[in-house]
Amino acid sequence: MLEISENGRTWLLTGPASGYAVHLTEGDELLHLHWGPRIALADAEALAVRPLPVYRPFESPLDGREEYPVEGGPRFARPALSVRTEERRGTEWRFEAHEAEGDHLRLRFRDGGLVITLHYRMRHDVVERWVTLDNEGPAPLELLRADAATWTLPDREGWRLSQLHGRWAAESLLTAAPLTHGEKVIGSRRGHTGHQHLPWVALDTDATEERGEVYGCALGWSGSWRIAVAQLPDARVQITGGAGYDDSGLLLLAAGESYTTPVFAGLWSDGGFGGASRAWHAYQRAYVVPDADRDRPVLFNSWEATEFDISEEQQGALARRAAAIGVELFVVDDGWFGRRTSDRAGLGDWTPNPDRFPKGLAPLADHVHALGMQFGIWVEPEMVNPDSDLYRAHPDWVQYQPGRTRTEFRNQLVLNLAREDVQEYLWRQLDTLLSSAPIDYVKWDFNRCFTDAGWPGDPYPQRLWVDHVRALYALLDRLRAAHPDVVFESCSGGGGRIDLGIMSRTDQVWTSDNTDPLDRLAIQHGFSQIHPARVMAAWVTDSPNTQLNDRVSSLGFRFVSAMAGVLGVGGDLTQWTEEELAEAGDWVSLYKEIRPLVQHGDLHRLRPPTGGLSAVQYVRGDESVVLAWLQAQSYGEPVPALRLRGLDPTASYECLETGEIHRGAVLLHHGLDTALRGDLDAAVIRLRRI
Ligand code: GLA
Repeated sequence: MLEISENGRTWLLTGPASGYAVHLTEGDELLHLHWGPRIALADAEALAVRPLPVYRPFESPLDGREEYPVEGGPRFARPALSVRTEERRGTEWRFEAHEAEGDHLRLRFRDGGLVITLHYRMRHDVVERWVTLDNEGPAPLELLRADAATWTLPDREGWRLSQLHGRWAAESLLTAAPLTHGEKVIGSRRGHTGHQHLPWVALDTDATEERGEVYGCALGWSGSWRIAVAQLPDARVQITGGAGYDDSGLLLLAAGESYTTPVFAGLWSDGGFGGASRAWHAYQRAYVVPDADRDRPVLFNSWEATEFDISEEQQGALARRAAAIGVELFVVDDGWFGRRTSDRAGLGDWTPNPDRFPKGLAPLADHVHALGMQFGIWVEPEMVNPDSDLYRAHPDWVQYQPGRTRTEFRNQLVLNLAREDVQEYLWRQLDTLLSSAPIDYVKWDFNRCFTDAGWPGDPYPQRLWVDHVRALYALLDRLRAAHPDVVFESCSGGGGRIDLGIMSRTDQVWTSDNTDPLDRLAIQHGFSQIHPARVMAAWVTDSPNTQLNDRVSSLGFRFVSAMAGVLGVGGDLTQWTEEELAEAGDWVSLYKEIRPLVQHGDLHRLRPPTGGLSAVQYVRGDESVVLAWLQAQSYGEPVPALRLRGLDPTASYECLETGEIHRGAVLLHHGLDTALRGDLDAAVIRLRRI
């Protein structure tokens, strides 16, 4: 709901539990008023007449109070907007008008030929904010920086910042630390979202998993980005973020051109970190992830089983075993195209390798379909190996700096997707590929960062950073429109491209190349702070885990770990014994039973994975399921009971595993025994209200 004061200068957005208000002063300064629990318009108006503090000339009363701080004037905080023309830099805007369309509020300002429109939209309790910049003047404007939004927190003491950090094979690790004066900056200068930080921060003063206020912000952008959290001199806290890491130039806006920032979404919750996560998940399932109400199938992926050494016959043998254990989608990973027999060649040539698939992919796809499964393939369209037909034909289609060394991470170069000829080539290749065989699913990978992002001959080469992402989005949109039944997974060497932007165009994400079931618990714990299990792909692979650490774990532990998300199997099924295959079949059918709860239910993190017992619980209607893992039992101590969440204390629940009847109040306040023992033990416990 959107309410506007009579004088047209105070705006209040209201969600089911929260409110957000802004106010325009007589001097056209746009001030932040409120973000927190629901308030009335009269409350917002009362806040609007509170005077600004009076400062000596060394501080600005605007700093820490503005909705979208521009560069210039009496401001010392980091600007969200920095614009340069031939004559000057900075912005001095006048308010033009507000426009309201349902819950979508637009506030329009003008500085000469530059029109700046701030967008606000409340979806559930998530405030979506973004900005459009239109150059209506005759001369070009350079956008040095254009953040999507600046968020202002209420005056409190002792803010704590939570973030998700990591690296390849160790993404999404949760960490929290007190915020101190100055700025904490996270982001990526790699051209993609990056394994190092998910574009999300959360701030609280005293929240726990189940209680307390949490402010969260998440950016929807799949290129380089930056979020800066600042505790200003008077202890006010602001969070500003957008596309691009540096302020050295984002885009040149010629006369008549526009730029729309990504969406920066903000959520206030007073349900602790658990409540905040559930609200983020519900928002993404309702508004971000395509077709989120559809179940994601159990998949098999060939990568860890066969790597580059693949053939039609061998994939067919894997497919038959996968089908027998209940897999629903069979995915051929890398190695099916061009001369791709190792990572040294073939990227760019998106036609089946004639030695390996002499009649194309259709015979294998048909075989997989005949086995009752869907068929998927792996691609990495934004890249090229120098040893490829594409590169030999178009060596100038890559990003490069003339006369400089080209970094060939994984023997590959990045295509310059800002070029229209490259966009058109990729569209034709992929459209032809998807039309050539009955392909149901595409795993879209991106396996190196930008390093030499030059564009010789272009008057403003730095635009390729933004234009690459815009071209990627446009390509995905075009492919989805032309092939509406094809489902896409976002991958970037595991979890290197996970954000709300890519999530709005892909159906699930590859969480991490780390498939060790124990490491995964921590990765999944961090991931779940922001993203729902419905998009979190997780595979059961071989033990020992030869890819990573040689850890030995039971099939049960591996399955229960992967069943917390979208279950997949990635082991070499030709090496599994009959007993293992039979056990795997049982786990897959159990997963199918609990899938609606996992993929569409409310998640409660019962205990974090910090060494001993950890557990998550999903609740949907009258049903609930607990997934519990015991890393190590120490000193022979009994394993603690798990206090459950989200149940009705007045109801009774039947445990489908044991047939026992439990009282809701007892499960909530005293807990459930898991019967876990020893090391790396795991259990699935289903409960149904009776
Ligand atoms: C990346 C992905 C893996 C696999 C390989 C194939 O590393 O994350 O899952 O697809 O590429 O080369």
